[in-house]
Amino acid sequence: MSSASTPLQSSAVINEAVQTLRDGGLVAFPTETVYGLGADAKNPEAIQKIFTTKGRPADHPLIVHIAAANQFDVPQIDWIPLLAPWARDIPEDALKLINTFWPGPLTLVFKKEKSVLNALTGGQDTVAIRAPAHPIAQALLRKFKGAVVAPSANRFGKVSPTSAADVRNEFEGILDLMILDGGDCEVGIESTIIDFSSGDKAILLRPGVITPKEILFKTGVHVYLPGQLHLQNNESDEGADVPRVSGSLKAHYAPTTPLILYAPGRALDALSEFPDIKSRVAVAVWDSESSLVLEDHPSIDVSEIIVSSDPASFASKLYRTLRDLDQQGWDLILFPEPPTGEEWDGVRDRLQRACFGSGPSSKSHESN
Ligand code: TXA
Ligand code: MG
Repeated sequence: MSSASTPLQSSAVINEAVQTLRDGGLVAFPTETVYGLGADAKNPEAIQKIFTTKGRPADHPLIVHIAAANQFDVPQIDWIPLLAPWARDIPEDALKLINTFWPGPLTLVFKKEKSVLNALTGGQDTVAIRAPAHPIAQALLRKFKGAVVAPSANRFGKVSPTSAADVRNEFEGILDLMILDGGDCEVGIESTIIDFSSGDKAILLRPGVITPKEILFKTGVHVYLPGQLHLQNNESDEGADVPRVSGSLKAHYAPTTPLILYAPGRALDALSEFPDIKSRVAVAVWDSESSLVLEDHPSIDVSEIIVSSDPASFASKLYRTLRDLDQQGWDLILFPEPPTGEEWDGVRDRLQRACFGSGPSSKSHESN
């Protein structure tokens, strides 16, 4: 973490946040991925507030956030007692991932303990858990001495917030929300989610900056893509209409300005497919490429925005860039298709969903 530039909240503010959680209120807080909208994981009314505030359907489960008691002893943390109140049947392979990547941007799904609230798991018999790395998230969790459920702190279907100001904009006029300010999120897209609930196999549910390749390299654990197990899975169609991962809906993370992707070197072609758009278009261009010289286009006012060709830096700025562009009143936003390769899977996934759901009508959100 870039702790030097992180405006750490005073302990008085953290105490106030803890009290708010204990009183059944909501607190928005920074994690290294995106900002979360937190509530006491043991309080059903507080959990209900999250769903109402976000406009999130009740069958979309939440992630339980936990922290180890001692921040100075990371390699020696025994996570098992911390997981015990929430999860059961934790495979050896899951512990290898936990010991390697926690605290960090990795969420694991397990069979749930009986006492875990149904409201939290969307009625499923599994539970998602993660230990965030951000120092403010950890300070909050430690002082609270309990677990906090936290979806991304945005209204359902919208771009996740990566700064305190984003959260404020998201809920302005809707809710007087306590927001802990931890600066800009470093990772920038949501955690990788891996499912260990269906036996000994690890299955990727949501790509993120921690990739199956990195997991294999660092732990020896093979992570399967959902499609790879499909043929072996007899119950594949059962409950197929229940979204296990809300981010898996086609139209998620969507800006209100229409957004499309262009193939390498094909920005002009993409523009010509939209002949009715005659005004302002923002085109994102790789920093590794020379200018597209789009000024040639007679009827369109085009501006270039430079984006990083390094996947981690790109991810870190993706939602920031989408939010900023969305507020600048463009008629269309063009982004380059991310290259193939696992390290781009997380941002490709978010960009494709953002395209699908983009545009002012939000038609696709309502159908979710
Ligand atoms: O990086 C993150 O994970 C952020 C920060 C705030 O921690 N949180 C986040 O939460 O992205 P949310 O609610 O926006 O997305 C959580 C995802 C949802 O897509 C949800 O469906 C999935 O986790 N999830 C939660 N419980 C699950 C379960 N039992 N089985 C499968 N997926 C689950
Ligand atoms: Mg979300």
